[in-house]
Amino acid sequence: MQIRWQLSDGDTDWMARALAFVNDAEAEALSVRAEFHIVLAGGGTPKRLYEALAAESHDWSRWQVWYGDERCLPADHPDRNSHMALEAWLKRVALPAANHHPIPAELGADVAAKAYARSLDKVARFDLVLLGLGEDGHTASLFPGHDWGTGLDAPAALAVFDAPKPPPERVSLSACRLSAARHVLFLVTGAGKQEAVANWRTMGSIPAAAIMPEDGVDVVLDKPANGGRG
Ligand code: 6PG
Repeated sequence: MQIRWQLSDGDTDWMARALAFVNDAEAEALSVRAEFHIVLAGGGTPKRLYEALAAESHDWSRWQVWYGDERCLPADHPDRNSHMALEAWLKRVALPAANHHPIPAELGADVAAKAYARSLDKVARFDLVLLGLGEDGHTASLFPGHDWGTGLDAPAALAVFDAPKPPPERVSLSACRLSAARHVLFLVTGAGKQEAVANWRTMGSIPAAAIMPEDGVDVVLDKPANGGRG
């Protein structure tokens, strides 16, 4: 499985690469299909990418926005991944409400995972999956020592309990489901990620490495995340 490491030359270059990747994936999808199915990453890294997208002009009616994971908190809780995406981007553009598919994690992990898995039945392959990388190599809410859902028979969405990154209860798309994608882009910045990146580069068994779409993955990272090496 191919990993294409896109080492950026500073913040501006990192953003330009990430934005170009999203736009290219959208253009490819909409050149042959009616809709662009994108899965959003949570955490903090994607926020500035989402803010940049909010400033662009797209036919948002052709976007279908999904989430790779969600924290089991009230729907309007500021720590929700959907809250960050709405505030940074989705509330600021004309995305039809029906095209926004938050994970109903406020219902609890088991109920939400089953409900979200059902809603994903209608999407065979995502056009683009955005993912973050945790310092321990986690991605979405797939954590070391937990079930990553790598088998072809894995459910599309997993209930996660006692996650090491708070809150403990979460919902995550499985590694198998996240891999059913035409393009996967990992968004990685900061020295805190260098150990996870080094581990990944040496074929370490981390959750991020379990995301294995047919055409490989792309990782846009900055020098600090790459151990300072340019
Ligand atoms: C979450 C995210 C998680 C995140 C990584 C990186 O719910 O926290 O889904 O997987 O992407 O932990 O987080 P940062 O981008 O904040 O470093």
